[in-house]
Amino acid sequence: MDFDLKTLGLAGAAGEKTDALVVLVGQGAAATGKDALSQLVAQALKSGDLETKPGNMLQAWRSAGVAASRLILVGCGESTGSQVRTAVQAAVGALRSAKVRRVTICLPQRAGDDAVRAAVVAAADASYSYVTTKPKAEGRKLERVLIGVASADSARQAFEQAAATVQGIELAKEWANRPPNYATPTHLGDAAKALAKDHGFHCEVLGPKEVAKLGMGSFMAVSQGSEQPLRFIVLRYDGAAKAEPPLVLVGKGITFDSGGISIKPAAEMDEMKFDMGGAASVLGVFRAVADLRPSINLVGLIASCENIPDGRAVKPGDVVTSMSGQTIEILNTDAEGRLILCDALTYAERFKPKAVVDIATLTGACVVALGGVRSGLFATDDDLALALQAAGDAALDPCWRMPLDDEYAEGLKTNFADVANVAGRAGGAVNAAKFLQRFTTAYPWGHLDIAGTAWKGGAAKGSSGRPVGLLVEFIMGQQNEPQAKPTRSPRKAAGKASTRGK
Ligand code: BES
Ligand code: MN
Ligand code: ZN
Repeated sequence: MDFDLKTLGLAGAAGEKTDALVVLVGQGAAATGKDALSQLVAQALKSGDLETKPGNMLQAWRSAGVAASRLILVGCGESTGSQVRTAVQAAVGALRSAKVRRVTICLPQRAGDDAVRAAVVAAADASYSYVTTKPKAEGRKLERVLIGVASADSARQAFEQAAATVQGIELAKEWANRPPNYATPTHLGDAAKALAKDHGFHCEVLGPKEVAKLGMGSFMAVSQGSEQPLRFIVLRYDGAAKAEPPLVLVGKGITFDSGGISIKPAAEMDEMKFDMGGAASVLGVFRAVADLRPSINLVGLIASCENIPDGRAVKPGDVVTSMSGQTIEILNTDAEGRLILCDALTYAERFKPKAVVDIATLTGACVVALGGVRSGLFATDDDLALALQAAGDAALDPCWRMPLDDEYAEGLKTNFADVANVAGRAGGAVNAAKFLQRFTTAYPWGHLDIAGTAWKGGAAKGSSGRPVGLLVEFIMGQQNEPQAKPTRSPRKAAGKASTRGK
């Protein structure tokens, strides 16, 4: 799908050659023009048939003076980011089943950068369609989205960032949505290599032998019940001077979490294919970075394996030695995310990072605490916490800071190792974070528990692509120099943004 940006008022929008024209109508719209479409909007508002309540729609066919055969007027309140998102989701959602290939979305004249970003991301989200293992599916019909704004020049940077973010979100969705037999650790390693090759990143993919050599005994223990060999992925993007310490992202890549010997109940166990959502978001961030080329150094680490019961599988009570040298008593094999992440967090030390942020579908307790709205945020550094929280709010991909008091670590004490991998049920998301914190003493550390936000269940089951939006926004804010003009990857036509291909 291609995105374009254009300076467009309602008079111009009416003349756009497009299959559907979506006009967002905000509160207190400036005195309307004399053109036919402006008049129509004014009359619809006056009659009460159109309200500016976000998502409120009025649809028409072959409206006089409008070139597009379909016209949707949709309310967007005060044109805040979230209100524009609601409006665009409703309008583009309503066009989903129609044969609409090109849509023009005309934003209110006063809409700001937040509105532009929200419109781009929401248009992609509302038209997304998974097809990889559905050979007969038609897939997304929408090919081109033109965003009309008061000034394309001033909205350009926000637009480019949003279009790149969509690329990242869609790559993350694709990998998270793939069935676990189509998204094994080997597949993820190959995807990382392909991404690196396409966009000029460094990429190393380690297998069981190399990981054993590194002494990642905790990671290996989780993997040992599976026929699928583990993968440890190291991606690197150099956008700043060599001496500049990198930001390191660490993704949990459990391609299927059965719980292992501490096996999970059967109901909804299929959703544990999404347990590599953290890993998928790291791939997604690199895809966005490929377009945006921010002036920072970035490392992506992905620890990936299956968690499966077997005669060789790790058992409750087993004690393993992590790469850090700390021994861990595995009391519950279903608390496997922290066991693979702790070794990745130790590995991260070698980059002397500016900060490390891990992203993990880590605990059911985080879903209980925050539901599907905000991801759980933990951090040992206040500035890092503030920056991540602000990035989440700005990208409409929000998170909420949780505590790290040492008292929460009490339950991790054991007579048989340095630390146990579980504490009691109470405060489960914090207990898990306290476990991870033991491995992060060498750098400022942030942790995003995305168990509640990485995917939706039920009829709309599927990956959300979160928290790619949060992370891209955070990364763009980490640049020291004023932001360079984003450049497109060499394969893309200049001035266009595409979600086709990877
Ligand atoms: N991947 C799960 C966490 C999860 C559960 C994410 C439900 C989304 C929905 C994780 O590996 C896990 O199983 N955690 C356990 C930890 C417990 C054994 C201490 C959990 O949350 O139940
Ligand atoms: Mn588990
Ligand atoms: Zn898990």
